[in-house]
Amino acid sequence: MDTFLTNSPEIAAEFIRNGGLVAFPTETVYGLGARVFDEAAVAKIFEAKQRPADNPLIAHVADLEQISELTSEITESATKFIDKFFPGPLTLVLEKSPRVPSLATAGLDTIGVRMPESAAAREFLNACQSPVVAPSANLSGRPSPTTWQAVYEDLNGRIDCILQGDPADIGVESTVVDCTGEIPIILREGAISLEELQTVVPATARAPVRDPKLARSPGLKYRHYSPRAKVTVVETEGQVETTENAAFIGLRLPQKEPRLVKLCDDAEEYAHELFEFLRECDRRGIDTVYCQAVDEQGIGAALMDRLRRAAQG
Ligand code: TXA
Ligand code: MG
Repeated sequence: MDTFLTNSPEIAAEFIRNGGLVAFPTETVYGLGARVFDEAAVAKIFEAKQRPADNPLIAHVADLEQISELTSEITESATKFIDKFFPGPLTLVLEKSPRVPSLATAGLDTIGVRMPESAAAREFLNACQSPVVAPSANLSGRPSPTTWQAVYEDLNGRIDCILQGDPADIGVESTVVDCTGEIPIILREGAISLEELQTVVPATARAPVRDPKLARSPGLKYRHYSPRAKVTVVETEGQVETTENAAFIGLRLPQKEPRLVKLCDDAEEYAHELFEFLRECDRRGIDTVYCQAVDEQGIGAALMDRLRRAAQG
């Protein structure tokens, strides 16, 4: 059956309250939500996305009280990050409450918690009357969806409802920070940079191990963000060897211009455009996508993480 499309947060939330799956807009990317305390609904997320069962989900909350329903301890560093960055594109990993089904956290005793900022997400989450677990609303392995049409492309017929909102403001996912220990550790680079986190907790660090097999955030070890086309990261626009069926995205125009080119003014715009561009390349049957490397500062760190992982194909 076709997925129900609506632009009413209240109608979409009714599907959640009845144990269904709903894709909804946030400022980062679209999420695929289910009621966190409904184990059968949570199981359907893994099935619809074909997501490996050992990859935990982020719980999305409408207000601060819901954080206490999900966690057993809110540490000092978490409190500081909440004060400064919630609502916003930041996910905090904390000890989970026993009430949260272990399916949602892939058996971990921690849970990722995030309070989205966009008005559509907040209206929807308020109307759900419960925290909502939600991974990005793409088929596992594909680029994350930044428009409702991209969700439809991957999941029509596999989920109950899509809440049709505007394209995502930011375009890359939230930063995931483990706040359970002495020092907050970035598990996944995202929209909020290390530098910004350090303004609140100066000791905040990147996870020391970059080997994806040893990654502490289980999702990092899987194939990710991959279009059907081959993705190649180029250090300069000069390294583009034009082939007929190629595309380029970056900050400076390449000397040899492939068929499809997306030029961005800065790293923010590049991050905003990347996932949709990769999907557009697939729609047009492009074979190779050249993606220009950027400096790993600010959102550039998250962008380079996504580019490298897309290139691993
Ligand atoms: O911006 C976002 O974070 C979007 C929107 C929808 O909120 N969500 C998102 O979810 O990107 P997902 O499932 O695609 O990515 C979640 C990442 C994965 O790498 C997962 O392994 C990690 O967060 N994660 C979730 N819970 C965790 C936990 N308890 N411990 C460590 N890593 C966790
Ligand atoms: Mg994802």
